[in-house]
Amino acid sequence: MTSGTTMTSKTSDSITTSLSTKGKLSSVGSSFMASAGSRNTSGGFDEGAKYSDDQILEAPNLRTFTFIELKTATKNFRPDSVLGEGGFGRVYKGWVDEKTMAPTKNDTGMVVAVKKLNSESMQGFEEWQSEINFLGRLSHPNLVKLLGYCWEDKELLLVYEFMAKGSLENHLFRRGCAPLSWELRLKIAIGAARGLAFLHASEKQVIYRDFKASNILLDANYNAKLSDFGPAKLGPTGSNSHITTRVM
Ligand SMILES: Nc1ncnc2c1ncn2[C@@H]1O[C@H](COP(=O)(O)OP(=O)(O)OP(=O)(O)O)[C@@H](O)[C@H]1O
Ligand SMILES: [Mg+2]
Repeated sequence: MTSGTTMTSKTSDSITTSLSTKGKLSSVGSSFMASAGSRNTSGGFDEGAKYSDDQILEAPNLRTFTFIELKTATKNFRPDSVLGEGGFGRVYKGWVDEKTMAPTKNDTGMVVAVKKLNSESMQGFEEWQSEINFLGRLSHPNLVKLLGYCWEDKELLLVYEFMAKGSLENHLFRRGCAPLSWELRLKIAIGAARGLAFLHASEKQVIYRDFKASNILLDANYNAKLSDFGPAKLGPTGSNSHITTRVM
């Protein structure tokens, strides 16, 4: 773990209530654009509180997964279900039931992307927490949707909507990837800009801080969505500065 944050609790249910990374959305009071929908008391996914297109929730509304559920969904984290790998760890393709989000077998149901913390990761707990605090509350067509998370012992995982065309980085730089047309490039640039504009124009002025091609994910229709809110910060409030001297 990088941050010096201690993992004192092991039960998933107590995680979101104890999320309190300084300067992150969790520290914002109830005046912060409370919208309909919240995490239900059991920590599970509140069926009645689906995201609308463009909103900020007061509390993350996420499904808590057990490690076994995600192990099943990804076929035991099988190497051939790896979608990619970054500083946090590997990202696996998995299958869950669309309604209950319980894992399914035989590749049925809804496809999801499961990001699993690598124990040697230099990113770790604070980024995982930040991802939940930001992406669990922000909802916009140009931000990737975080569906849930798992925290069991040292296992930290995040579950996202599956982005069928992968990252922009792969399309630009991966060998064998056909070049993107100018029309698609423009569509992607506009989508990514809309995501940033939503963050900057929101009441709390979220500063994304990790804008790069690998974090611009593309759905089946090349709609761009920003991902990875580990390093994100809130804009300045009152006397609180948004400037940091921390080496990234
Ligand atoms: N929701 C998703 N759907 C489909 N593929 C994904 C999804 N999230 C990540 N990926 C794939 O996994 C790869 C790794 O993603 P990840 O965010 O962990 O690392 P990164 O952005 O490449 O690097 P860094 O750690 O520097 O941010 C991505 O480049 C992408 O190909
Ligand atoms: Mg990324």
